Amino acid sequence: MTAINRRRALTGSAAVAVGVPVLAACGSDSSDADDSTGSGDAGGTPGEELAAVADVPVGGCFVVSGAKVVVTQPTEGDFKAFTAVCTHRGCLVESSTEGDIPCPCHSSKFSLDDGSPLSGPATAALEEVEITVSGDSITRA
Ligand code: FES
Repeated sequence: MTAINRRRALTGSAAVAVGVPVLAACGSDSSDADDSTGSGDAGGTPGEELAAVADVPVGGCFVVSGAKVVVTQPTEGDFKAFTAVCTHRGCLVESSTEGDIPCPCHSSKFSLDDGSPLSGPATAALEEVEITVSGDSITRA
């Protein structure tokens, strides 16, 4: 009887000990998810050089990895920019000449015009980043 009670007591302790790290991991994951959906351009410096006009294909987009910004040119001479951090799970979107902004992680696609989701698991738009185009240079406004 004593051995059974000891086994039950140990099993119960093990269950409690296992449960604590699982809860901690869940808390960590949810805070990571919150970070990934935050503003991609927070902390950007006005005047920061992002790209040259020639870097951005007409009907496509160019990702500035360091700044986490994607610059698009939906039609010739019309430039827009958005955070390059996907609103689904936080991956960096990719440069493209295919008429949209693709995310390599789960295949979401976003509009070159307004960053809205066109397809895929992402349901929120990429946040717009204000830019200035001067001569051949595209900078953060
Ligand atoms: Fe972009 Fe999932 S992180 S589609």
